[in-house]
Amino acid sequence: MALATRTDRPPSLIGSVWRSTVGKKAVMAVTGMIMLAYLVAHVVGNLKVFFGAGEFNHYGHWIRTVGEPFLHYEWFLWMARAALGTAVVLHGVAAYQLSRRDLAARPQKYARKRQRASYATRTMRWGGVILGLFIVWHVLDLTTLTVNPNAEEGRPYENLVASLDRPAVTAFYIAAMLALGLHIRHGFWSAAQTLGANSARRERVLKFLADALALVLTCGFIAVPVGVLTGVVS
Ligand code: HEM
Repeated sequence: MALATRTDRPPSLIGSVWRSTVGKKAVMAVTGMIMLAYLVAHVVGNLKVFFGAGEFNHYGHWIRTVGEPFLHYEWFLWMARAALGTAVVLHGVAAYQLSRRDLAARPQKYARKRQRASYATRTMRWGGVILGLFIVWHVLDLTTLTVNPNAEEGRPYENLVASLDRPAVTAFYIAAMLALGLHIRHGFWSAAQTLGANSARRERVLKFLADALALVLTCGFIAVPVGVLTGVVS
């Protein structure tokens, strides 16, 4: 009886989109774009480190007071965190489910021989895992300050320099940023195809845009650990 009631109910639009392969790809594309927008803002903010502690810490304070007095202290930041957190989770879950679906759809003999996924697919999967681990470490390091050697509330500049003064951490940051560049390059291109933005001419433009975005973001992010490593930022 209970089964009959469940099957009688028409599936919701959101449920149907989420269950379909193309729907999951669209979710990945849209959430990827949201994260990309965040990264563009984040890299611009990070580069302020080259203007000294005063300017960088002032920027850190500003993020927490955006929208005041209409918004309360940190409300804007929490809204951004909620949107970003939702995007990261949806992106990761859809990626995992799509890869399971892809594996299940392969003919048995390929599945048994563990047919190798393409270079791009492997790069995206491993890049995604590295970035997931990086985000967890990064938030513990510079937001909650749990693993930060300086851990001074309201002093992001000093916390950043203290963190990147550890060679192993600097190496991890640089490796993660290289993975980020590859992930953005392929991800942006895939998203453009999923969202149907390809014709011969547009294809060339989008490929160029994907390369340029990946390069600018990777160099911009890597500049900070390199700046600390070389003593330009101290
Ligand atoms: C070398 C590269 C990076 C540096 C130097 C850096 C620096 C920072 C700093 C200083 C903060 C703390 C800001 C504050 O509390 O005022 C922060 C927060 C954060 N960063 Fe990064 N970041 C880098 C790359 C990334 C990347 C690639 C991602 C995402 C994939 C990312 C995601 C985040 C997130 C989610 C937060 C927490 C924001 C919050 O909730 O307060 N960062 N980053």
